[in-house]
Amino acid sequence: MASPPPIPVVPGNRSGARGREPPDPPHPSKQLPELIRKKRDGSHLSEADIRDFVHAVVDGSAQGAQIGAMLMAIRLQGMDLEETALLTQALAMSGQKLEWPEAWQQQLVDKHSTGGVGDKVSLVLAPALAACGCKVPMISGRSLGHTGGTLDKLESVPGFNVIQSPEQMKLLLEQVGCCIVGQSEKLVPADGILYAARDVTATVDSLPLITASILSKKAVEGLSALVVDVKFGEAALFPDPKQARELARTLVGVGAGLGLRVAAALTAMDNPLGRSVGHSLEVEEALLCLDGAGPPDLRDLVTRLGGALLWLSGQVEAQSQGAARVARALDDGSARGRFQLMLAAQGVDPALAQALCSGSPARRRQLLPCAREQEELRAPADGTVERIRALPLALVLREIGAGRSRAGEPLRLGVGAELLVDVGQRLQRGTPWLRVHRDGAALSSAQRRALQRALVLSDRAPFTAPSPLEELILPTSVQP
Ligand code: URA
Repeated sequence: MASPPPIPVVPGNRSGARGREPPDPPHPSKQLPELIRKKRDGSHLSEADIRDFVHAVVDGSAQGAQIGAMLMAIRLQGMDLEETALLTQALAMSGQKLEWPEAWQQQLVDKHSTGGVGDKVSLVLAPALAACGCKVPMISGRSLGHTGGTLDKLESVPGFNVIQSPEQMKLLLEQVGCCIVGQSEKLVPADGILYAARDVTATVDSLPLITASILSKKAVEGLSALVVDVKFGEAALFPDPKQARELARTLVGVGAGLGLRVAAALTAMDNPLGRSVGHSLEVEEALLCLDGAGPPDLRDLVTRLGGALLWLSGQVEAQSQGAARVARALDDGSARGRFQLMLAAQGVDPALAQALCSGSPARRRQLLPCAREQEELRAPADGTVERIRALPLALVLREIGAGRSRAGEPLRLGVGAELLVDVGQRLQRGTPWLRVHRDGAALSSAQRRALQRALVLSDRAPFTAPSPLEELILPTSVQP
């Protein structure tokens, strides 16, 4: 098993230091109400219009109501590819671009997801790619709508600091090979403001807003290759596969226009990914995957997305070769070693990072935030598990504190659920199938009913659940 190198200390991380630079002064050519009206009435926004709007968002001159109105106008009227690319650029330029040594060019890769339930892939993939020799400057997001956020999950590890300056990120990439950070006052600040506003204005499921939000964070990273995991299915931001494919194509196309090599993986999001949903429960499951174990659907997605990235960036000759290399990093402990280093370098007490990474599952649970109570649900009939619907599960978990309904609301990090059965498994009536971890009162009968409806049973013979990854859409410049 690979032993991790000594724990790096990244200056400023124990104090959570943040930098602040004043934004450029705005040069408004039109008043915001005029810009909002223009989009509301279905007109094309010019480069100057988009730049003025983003300036006003960042310098604080735009009121919350104006931001919400513009987001709704974009959500309802859409944006063409040119406007989407301009919005992406304006968001990216609201902060600093990251600069890396020339020698890292080929190794710089990243992955992002459009948002899922139980999706802890980034927690595993970033350190696994670092263990394969990549540099992964991952700028991630928080929970959005009913979907979970990588940053919120990582913050369930006491001490983990998602705010890192560009200088600290460079040190992290030098010493660890990966970091997972949030946008900040220096990094894509406009996306941070719009992201939080979308979450509370029913404007999350907008193709141009999702595209600009994701690609603006990636455009500043100076990548060699990016894979975006575009979810479809009931619990995805775009449930309809046709719309998800359109989003995938937009991401690949706008990415290419910005000089980014982007591939989009279409993956099913009907069932939760893995067996755990909820912040600290998902960190535990990510650690299991980093042990070379854990649920097969999670490992499958981590290895296949990682394989695609190693291939797209020209580091291996075939995706399967890349996937095998990522699998080796999970099995030999080198990916877990990188995760431990990343935790310690991003503010976690090194002793805690070590105990988490080398401890048993039971020990890990003691070290992470835990909910006060557990409550189990039982199968109402005999049958084969056809589906475990992620959406009702996520909605109930959000109600009991695992998600936000107002921007900035604190999360209950130990609240969540463990699936006790797998899709395709035969169950007998009365078998426990779900364990809910809760802090508050017992689940209401409406919540229990909603959760029971998440378990879909059939008369089919038991089966093996298919891989969630359906298709990889490649940029036209790349031949498989
Ligand atoms: N991830 C993001 O960063 N932005 C979105 O809009 C959706 C997922």
